[in-house]
Amino acid sequence: MRNNLPVTNVEVQLDEHTLIVSKTDLKGQITYINKDFIDISGFTELELIGQPHNLVRHPDMPVEAFADMWHDLKDGRPWTGLVKNRCKNGDYYWVLATATPMRENGQVVGYMSVRRKPTRQQVDAAESAYRLFRERKAGGLRILHGAVVKGEMGFWQSCTQVKTDGGFWCPSRGLGIDCRSWALGYGANE
Ligand SMILES: Cc1cc2nc3c(=O)[nH]c(=O)nc-3n(C[C@H](O)[C@H](O)[C@H](O)COP(=O)(O)O)c2cc1C
Repeated sequence: MRNNLPVTNVEVQLDEHTLIVSKTDLKGQITYINKDFIDISGFTELELIGQPHNLVRHPDMPVEAFADMWHDLKDGRPWTGLVKNRCKNGDYYWVLATATPMRENGQVVGYMSVRRKPTRQQVDAAESAYRLFRERKAGGLRILHGAVVKGEMGFWQSCTQVKTDGGFWCPSRGLGIDCRSWALGYGANE
């Protein structure tokens, strides 16, 4: 796990139109970044291209989040979750990131991530939940397909959202939505 230091308490705010894009090879080394990536992160294109993507890793991110991301990507599926990234000067920014495999002729040739501004409730919920993982207090919680969920794998359980301060939280479906009812609607057993 790469530990990028120092960090500050300064949050860089994205605007509604910011879309931070990067592409990587199969090992997670950066092959492309867009202008928003450069503008927000403070790194130059020269400093980013060819580097492992953990160059922007913030030490507050729990290892479980990236393990889950890579598990999904290696499985050929997209991953959506909350990510806190570190700028070159130590400041930070939160994104709602969707990473996905890129295919050519049916073969996965790399990965792409598109990130945009999350809501404040999503950030607050992720901050509390990720702290639990970092402090080894997550108990029965796990991160599954980018969402913090309770218990072991299983369709019903994978849709059981964690109740954090602000209500049920799911990065891809938003705050306040209890996905358990959806799961039950699809015929899963409690
Ligand atoms: C397409 C793609 C985008 C990624 N974006 C980020 C990112 O924005 N921030 C980040 O910390 N890691 C990102 N990662 C994950 C890193 O490759 C790495 O797993 C993570 O930073 C943890 O690295 P470490 O365990 O070596 O510290 C991305 C990976 C891929 C494939």
